[in-house]
Amino acid sequence: MKLAVLKEGAGEPRVAAIPETVKKLAAKGYDILIEAGAGTRAGIGDDAYEAAGARIVTRQDAVTKGDVLLTVMGPDPSELKGAKKGAVLLGALSPATRGAEIGGYAGLGLEALAMEWMPRITRAQSMDILSSQSNLAGYKAVVDAASLFERAFPMMMTAAGTVSPAKVFVMGVGVAGLQAIATAKRMGAQVSATDVRSATKEQIQSLGAKPIFVEAVEGIEGEGAGGYAGETSEEYKKAQAELVSDHIGKQDIVITTALIPGRPAPRLISDTQLKTMKPGSVIVDLAAEAGGNVEGCVAGETVERHGVKIVGAVQLARTLAGDAAALFSRNLANFLLAYTVGSDDESAGDSPAQDGRLLLPDEDELVAGIRLTKGGEIVHERLRAMG
Ligand code: NAI
Repeated sequence: MKLAVLKEGAGEPRVAAIPETVKKLAAKGYDILIEAGAGTRAGIGDDAYEAAGARIVTRQDAVTKGDVLLTVMGPDPSELKGAKKGAVLLGALSPATRGAEIGGYAGLGLEALAMEWMPRITRAQSMDILSSQSNLAGYKAVVDAASLFERAFPMMMTAAGTVSPAKVFVMGVGVAGLQAIATAKRMGAQVSATDVRSATKEQIQSLGAKPIFVEAVEGIEGEGAGGYAGETSEEYKKAQAELVSDHIGKQDIVITTALIPGRPAPRLISDTQLKTMKPGSVIVDLAAEAGGNVEGCVAGETVERHGVKIVGAVQLARTLAGDAAALFSRNLANFLLAYTVGSDDESAGDSPAQDGRLLLPDEDELVAGIRLTKGGEIVHERLRAMG
């Protein structure tokens, strides 16, 4: 089978394969085609792919010859005209917000697989693009905040006096939040954090940060469905707002990461609460694209309100394109390898496949979780329900 890696559009520096994953996939017998220049913006030249066993091809050849098309963000269907019927399109296809494009993939007869809908079960951890990219975003949010903050992070005792440590508050302790805590700690800040899932309290403590939790009202015990949080009660929201109001005025940096799948991001900081913060404080809102956790946040921009800089962070992992591409590519390769019968595979039996073959069983939990279209139809229940 031919596996083709597409070059992304202008705003996307990541790429869906790196030489390491090309080598692994080629060893399974796949014929790997890389669209010329696909890795340039992630620091990978065409020659590196060739050395790993791939062939460099034109866009036209990548689209029309690939049995499996690998992408980061999913091109517009109009760019995939001439693709083979039944070809697999694998990447971060944003099914929740790109209904028309997903319909377009179905119309082309493609089998579109959205990696962001990978079930969050142990077997799929190495294929989880949300985790791999959120982890980098959490790190970068703190680095960006530090560069906008006009004071130092660590405590410094000098002959000219003491510089006090920055106070960093992380709201939402999922994958991004945990990495934000760890990064801020490493940089010497005094870190506190909050979440609605009580299971995160121990994780916050184990990173040496202080948990700030609503104690009087029940939050969400453990992990919600699929590891995610759900909507909290009105009573909880009120108690949380009071807790935040008390705490936030003392903070220099706030990193917000709170998301509820399928819903707008919960509002965690109001304009009134912003006013209590010290001028020069910095907020990085990682939920900006989902509406923002902070009132007044604008996705893709840095705005200043009441002397506080609010960064509406969008796709921060992109700004670490080399690492982000490497992790993303490994997530994709781990999925492909799990469903490939290759020339070196014992399960191929007496008549081993000459080349790598991707077999995606309908009844498999991971396949069913991410498959959006097949045979010209939209097949995913969640998409059908959305109309
Ligand atoms: P997310 O990006 O959906 O949300 C970020 C955080 O915001 C979550 O911790 C959530 O509880 C929190 N949050 C939501 N509403 C809030 C509110 N009103 N106030 C404060 N915090 C709020 O979550 P993410 O990062 O995608 O992962 C959540 C959890 O899923 C992880 O911590 C992990 O336990 C689990 N997980 C499991 C995986 C697996 O088993 N394969 C892979 C990745 C994550």
